[in-house]
Amino acid sequence: MTDIQSIIEQMSLEEKAALCTGNSNWTTLAVRRLGVPEMVVSDGPHGVRRIQDVNAPVHQGLPATCFPTASCMASTWDVELLNEVGQALGEECIALKVDVLLGPGANMKRTPLCGRNFEYFSEDPFLAGKMAARFINGVQSKGVGTSLKHFAANNQEFQRFSINASIDERALREIYLPAFETAVKEAKPWTVMCAYNKLNGTYCSENHGLLVDILKDEWGFEGLVVSDWGAVHDRVASLKGGLDLEMPGPKERRTQSVVEAVRSGTLDQAMLDEAVSRILGAVFKAAETPKGGGFDTEAHHALARKAAAEGMVLLKNNGVLPLRNPRQIAVIGRAAKKPYYQGSGSSQVTPTMLAIPFEELQKQADGAVMTYAKGYPSGSDFRQALIDEAVRFAQVAEVALLFISLPDLKESEGYDRVDLDFNRHQVALIKAVASAQPQTVVILNNGAAVAMSEWIDAPAAVLEAWMMGQAGGEAVVDVLLGKVNPSGKLAETFPLKLTDTPAYVNYPGENGEVRYGEGIFIGYRYYDAKEMPVLFPFGYGGSYTTFAYSSPRFSSTLFKDVEGLTVSVDVTNSGSLAGKETVQVYVHDHKSRLVRPYKELKGFAKIELQPGETKTVTISLDFRSFAYYHPAYKQWVTEDGEFDILIGASSADIRFFQTVRLQSTLELPSILHRESTVRDWLSDRRGKVLIEPYIQRLLGQKKQIFEADGREGEATGMEELDMPLLSIFHNGESKLPMPAEDLVDSLLEQVYRAK
Ligand code: BGC
Repeated sequence: MTDIQSIIEQMSLEEKAALCTGNSNWTTLAVRRLGVPEMVVSDGPHGVRRIQDVNAPVHQGLPATCFPTASCMASTWDVELLNEVGQALGEECIALKVDVLLGPGANMKRTPLCGRNFEYFSEDPFLAGKMAARFINGVQSKGVGTSLKHFAANNQEFQRFSINASIDERALREIYLPAFETAVKEAKPWTVMCAYNKLNGTYCSENHGLLVDILKDEWGFEGLVVSDWGAVHDRVASLKGGLDLEMPGPKERRTQSVVEAVRSGTLDQAMLDEAVSRILGAVFKAAETPKGGGFDTEAHHALARKAAAEGMVLLKNNGVLPLRNPRQIAVIGRAAKKPYYQGSGSSQVTPTMLAIPFEELQKQADGAVMTYAKGYPSGSDFRQALIDEAVRFAQVAEVALLFISLPDLKESEGYDRVDLDFNRHQVALIKAVASAQPQTVVILNNGAAVAMSEWIDAPAAVLEAWMMGQAGGEAVVDVLLGKVNPSGKLAETFPLKLTDTPAYVNYPGENGEVRYGEGIFIGYRYYDAKEMPVLFPFGYGGSYTTFAYSSPRFSSTLFKDVEGLTVSVDVTNSGSLAGKETVQVYVHDHKSRLVRPYKELKGFAKIELQPGETKTVTISLDFRSFAYYHPAYKQWVTEDGEFDILIGASSADIRFFQTVRLQSTLELPSILHRESTVRDWLSDRRGKVLIEPYIQRLLGQKKQIFEADGREGEATGMEELDMPLLSIFHNGESKLPMPAEDLVDSLLEQVYRAK
């Protein structure tokens, strides 16, 4: 074990300051005289983007396996598969001499327009957290670090370097932070990367509340916080805010500012030492894993194929899929020959090989005659001749496979989409081909939700194949031919149209600020609340077989929050093909003091079943499954009362529910103050006892007055509920033993004394 403390003691102030900023685009500073090696970091998340020359301006990575992007991986709902992919990435990091992989991304898909949604898992924090955690476990099990990013609230690319995300505390705690929290607590990433944007007025890179109070102190994060590339504005302020490592570097003036700040006493030496200690902790941990060698390109390609196939979501199928040995197939669409398999930006990987759907079809679809028509151009111009050609081929075939990818550069890191649509040409192509050939299958390649209402009724089947990674060409054929039974389910809602989406009126913000006005209501939480129809709901996905749910069981129907609850259900493959099903458990709170989403995902499990086979799925719910974050108490709160436990095949396909009663074990502190309303007082255990006699008396007097006025039954006390107790006392002050203020103060004193 390296004695980090002793190294810190031997380091000069200049060395410490320099270590806290990178030494190149992708490396930290080595302090050779003290045996401190450099640490190499590399993007991420779905493949290793190892830049050969770390100082080169053009960042072309060495060949590495390009796995499907996060939207596809999340649609697998298979945390063990994510773990396997993580392990493979860890092995590739070792071979490519990378110490820390810059990923995964755990930001929420607040709006489907975010250009980088393909790199993020979900609109649901529970699902995203579980995915991120097992992925990190996988990479780190190989002795390679990860960087959980972008912490926090980098939910749009528009003005990402500067925008202030204004988010209320509850939405932050319940929606935007929990995926990070789960990943930090369950998987202990070596590093967390702070986001570019501001959060509630302060750059994330300087945000003490975020980086120190929440991440390090509350969640117990022991690793280092690294800046997103270029996210630091003031190095001293960022050190004070909890940012340990600035990337990239070197930045002489920044380093100098740190040295001067320590010398002048404006920066506590201990703060710098802590950052140095965290950095050295990761550097020496990384050094324990010898780097170099090769990796099994074939095996990793096969894993990428498996992940891609598992993530594909069968959105619609009238029975045309799986294909049953058609003799003539019309393959249409550029994406069949030029696969759109990953997104643009820092996550772009140089693949070790690339499977082409058309070629794979030729290999795998034995005996079928195949024609190819390009269908649509790369740009946005409209070329009727391409559509006409496609229609001609489609007409004479038995089935048409139409590969449609979002137009190049429509979604990317660095900017957002402007709409959710395929272009005019592509839509016209789908409609024309589908009307010429009733057996038309549309295969989609895109990184995030797209709108389809305009054409979804036309084709016989639609397969969401995502940005499917380098092996997607094989995976998609596996699914089309039924060699793999599709089992992906959407990790994000597909809305009917952009104007339906939760953040629509609050996006992208103005004057440098985006207000998250929809609060906790993003994704299905919003559509549920508005009872709004969607194109495809969260958690939805088809299969070539069918699954029957039976015998739901609950460990108890009356339980304490800390004990939690176990839910079991039997699932039977009631069709004739082997397949996989993901069971989802949502929790619905009947009544709560603060508004809550109608339901929230709190558990899921994926199982494989042979035809006729039955398996029992068991899912555990814990305290947090029932709690909400209460900003006034600054803690997670449960309340006594009834909840429905919903067991479903998607968020919109609930097969069973059971009402259960929770007993809260929380002893909440009093938060009463001079302005508290009668309702506040009545919800405080001690306060209620104290004010009840006064309220009864006042109500009694009011009743008498009303009755005298012939208005029996009108003095309900409803009006008074939301009035400050002080105002009520003021109104009836003459009948009180002391002035209203004094009485409230004395009651408050009794409340707090009793605690
Ligand atoms: C991206 C990060 C990435 C970093 C290094 C930034 O622009 O936001 O996700 O890891 O660059 O390439």
